[in-house]
Formats: sequence, structure tokens, C-alpha cells
Amino acid sequence: MELLLFLFILKLCSSASTIAPPTQTTTPSPYQPNWNSLDKRLLPEWFDKVKVGIFIHWGVYSVPSISSEWFWIDWKGNPSPNKKAQELINKFMKRNYKPGFTYQDFAKDFTAEFYNATEWVEIIKKSGAKYVVLTSKHHEGFALWPSDYSYSWNSMDVGPQRDIIGELRQAVLKDGSIRFGLYHSLYEWFHPLYISDKKNNFTTQNFVNNKIFPEMKELVLHYKPDIFWSDGEWEAGSEYWRSEEFLSWLYDESPVKDTVVVNDRWGHDTLCKHGGYFTCSDRYNPGTLQAHKWENAMSLDKNSWGFVRTSRAKDYLYASELIATLIKTVACGGNILINVGPTKDGIIAPIFEERLTQLGQWLKVNGEAIYESYPWEVCQNDTTTPDIWYTSKDNATTVYTLMLHWPHNNVLYLACPEISRSSSLTMLGVDDEKLQATVTAKKMLKISLPDKVKVKTDWAWTIKITNVKIP
Ligand SMILES: *[C@@H]1O[C@H](CO)[C@@H](O)[C@H](O)[C@H]1NC(C)=O
Ligand SMILES: *[C@@H]1O[C@H](CO)[C@@H](O)[C@H](O)[C@H]1NC(C)=O
Ligand SMILES: *[C@@H]1O[C@H](CO)[C@@H](O)[C@H](O)[C@H]1NC(C)=O
Ligand SMILES: *[C@@H]1O[C@H](CO)[C@@H](O)[C@H](O)[C@H]1NC(C)=O
Repeated sequence: MELLLFLFILKLCSSASTIAPPTQTTTPSPYQPNWNSLDKRLLPEWFDKVKVGIFIHWGVYSVPSISSEWFWIDWKGNPSPNKKAQELINKFMKRNYKPGFTYQDFAKDFTAEFYNATEWVEIIKKSGAKYVVLTSKHHEGFALWPSDYSYSWNSMDVGPQRDIIGELRQAVLKDGSIRFGLYHSLYEWFHPLYISDKKNNFTTQNFVNNKIFPEMKELVLHYKPDIFWSDGEWEAGSEYWRSEEFLSWLYDESPVKDTVVVNDRWGHDTLCKHGGYFTCSDRYNPGTLQAHKWENAMSLDKNSWGFVRTSRAKDYLYASELIATLIKTVACGGNILINVGPTKDGIIAPIFEERLTQLGQWLKVNGEAIYESYPWEVCQNDTTTPDIWYTSKDNATTVYTLMLHWPHNNVLYLACPEISRSSSLTMLGVDDEKLQATVTAKKMLKISLPDKVKVKTDWAWTIKITNVKIP
């Protein structure tokens, strides 16, 4: 009797659903959860225009702040991925901490008492950067927000007792001139669910289903980032991480579906191949024009992404090196993401601030050659004179020549650009002076540069050439 009734109700329900008029679910969603479909999405246009971003690595590793942000695994990994770092850390721990002190014990000293997101935004803006990417959670698993999926291992439960992400996002939005992005590590070195999935050769997905997948959605729904910068993907395939499913949700249904930009770190099968823009490797800077949009993620401290107290002046890039890296990157179609590591108390150290300020001073004068520029297809660097890089605008009729060195006798020879009668040549920042140019017997363009005392910036200089001949 009960069974019959049940069957009857079931019949009613199924017939009701077949009669029901089509709802929005019948509209095919544009992106299917497979790379073939996802890779067809065009990158939102804003990303290519802005060129310069700031990367921020901040977490519990910022408390010991020696060695690098890989402190925990270098110390406790079995085997350690970095034996030299392990020796250094063992010595440091023995000398400064009681036996039995754990990595987790550092979290209470992640105090952030001077963390003022408004000041961070001021520093970021002074650099000329147009976006920021903060580590929401690095490989240690510590969440910089009160996550429902990270009990007692997040910045609200222990340490700062603040919503670090929320505060930065608030300050970024209030300012209104930079885009807000989040970095997120898929794997967590010591998460028990991850370790057991890994033991099962990733045939089980308890870590992804119960932690990572809902956590990524939580991040997107709460903080609406315009960049989702994924990392820590390499030990397992994108199928294990459910990356295709996540991205189809992100592109189709999420609150940032029209603006969000992602990278290529979604599984060991995706780097430099699938996703949004390509990062390929840390500090990727190929020096040749790339067909696909890419980003050079690099760090001002050459040896670490997290803050390291023992770093010396020589460990940081000089402004000249930073600007040269930016120029080469943009000339080849990349964006640059420049990393700083704040201290545990929330300070972006003056050495970082100084470098970023120098970059901003340079961009104030030379930004016209960088922002919203395109690589020049004819040449990315000059074929004859070294350390000359090009960018372009106006359908390649305007070419910017970026010099990393000031040439001998104030005379520059270029093999690539061909000028026309209506071309004009000026140096950015030297407003009222047209530069004289002639073509040599060897078809080189010979440009007389302005007197160097009139030039406003050091480090690199831009000659703008209009009405260039299209070859
Ligand atoms: C944060 O910094 C801004 C800018 O310097 C300042 O106006 C503000 O009072 C600071 N906030 C706090 C809580 O100290
Ligand atoms: C995982 O793969 C290794 C090597 O192929 C194999 O020896 C091991 O039995 C596998 N473990 C599980 C749990 O399937
Ligand atoms: C231009 O750049 C390429 C690739 O980075 C390099 O191999 C080449 O030597 C450069 N040309 C000159 C003239 O420096
Ligand atoms: C560039 O070329 C396109 C298509 O040929 C044209 O519509 C556009 O006006 C051009 N832009 C400039 C700045 O010349």
C-alpha cells in the first residue's frame, strides 16, 4: 500500500516535471566544465591594459621570517625539499625556541598590529601598479580570512584576529583605482585529508570535496576578486582538483563572471597550457613575443616571496633591474606582478616601498609606453643595438623605443623602425624638443638624443616615434 502510494507520487512528480515549461536551466551555459570550452573564453580586456600589479605574500611564515615562505615544509618535510634550508632552520630553532615548539605556535605571534590597508594601498598606488594580488592562503594552509573551512587556522581565530582580506579589499574599493585579486594555494603540505588523498594516488577527493572546492567558492562569493591566482597544483591533475568545474562556475555563475581573470595553475596538466593567462614558471620572462597573454610573477627579494629578516640590500632588485624586467616583459606581451613580503606586524618595509616608489616615478614619465600598449610585432628588441625594447600604440603607427642604457655621444642607432616624412621623434619627459633623425647608408636610424641634464628620470628612457612606416 505504502509502496503503491509512493510510486503514484513519484509518477505525479515525474509527469509534472515533463509538463513544466522550460526554465532558465534549459539555456545552455556558455562554458562547459572542460578545457576545450573554458580555453575559448576571452580574457577580460582590462587585464592586458594595466600591465603592472603588486603581489603580496603574507602568512605565518612572516613570523619566523627566515629562509623563505617554505619554512614549514623545509623544516618538517620528510624528506625536506631543501636540505640546506632545513639545516639553517634547525639551527635557528635550537638557538631561539624551546624544544617542542611547533610551526603552529608561530601563529599567535602573527600580530599585524601595524597592518593598515589604507597605507598599503597608498604604497601600491605610488608604484603605478593597477592591480594587487594577496595570498589568501599559501601552502601552509593558514587562511587570511575567517574561513568556514579552516577551523582555528585562520587570521580571525588565531594571530591578528582580523579579516585581513576583507580590510584590504575595503581599502582597494574605497580608493577605486586598482583591481583586487587573490592568490590561493590548492595544496596544503600537512593537511591530513590532502595527505590521505595523496596516499591513495589521488583516487579519493576528500580534501577537494570537503575543503578546497567550497573554500574557493567562499572566497569568490565573499570577496569578489577580479583575479583568482591559483597555485600549488603540481602534485595532482586538474581532474582531482575539480578545476574545470570550478572555472565553469566562475565564468558562468559567479558574481565576478564578467570581470574575473585567472592564471594557468590548475593541475599538473595545465601550466602554460590551460586556463586564463599563462605564468609558466616563477619569474617567467621569455624575451620573445608570446601568442598567449602571460604574466611575469617575480619578487623584489630575489630569494624569497615571504619577508626574510636576514636579507641584505644585495638580495633585493635595484630599481634599474626592476624597470628593465618590466620593459622586457611588456615588450613581449606580458604583465608584471611584483612581489613584496610584509613583516609579521603588517609593515611593508621601506626597501620595498622605495623600489616601488622609484618604479612609480619612472612610470609617471614613461607610463605612456607601458599602459595600454601593445607589443610591436616587427621587433620586440632591436636587432642590432642591444638593450633596446619596443612597444606600440595606434595600430603600430606609434612606436616607443625603450633604452636601458644611455648611448655613447648621445647618439642612438636603431635597425627596426622606418620613419616617414611625417614622423616626429620625442623623448618622454622632455616635452618641447623634437629629436633629429637621419637614415645612415646602412639603413640605420640615427637619432640625436637630448642633453642628458634635461632628462627627468634615471634607469631607462623612451623615445616616441609617430607615423612609423608599416612594413
Ligand atoms: C590608516 O592609515 C591612514 C592613512 O595614513 C590613516 O588616515 C588612518 O587613520 C589609519 N588607520 C588606523 C586605524 O590607524
Ligand atoms: C599508488 O601507486 C603506486 C605506484 O603506481 C602503487 O604502488 C600503489 O599501490 C598505489 N596506491 C594505491 C592506494 O592505489
Ligand atoms: C634581442 O632579444 C633576444 C631574446 O631575448 C636576444 O637573444 C637577442 O640577443 C637580443 N638582441 C640584441 C641585439 O641584443
Ligand atoms: C586601427 O585599425 C582599426 C581597424 O583597421 C581602425 O578601426 C581603428 O580606427 C584604428 N585605430 C587607430 C587609432 O588608428
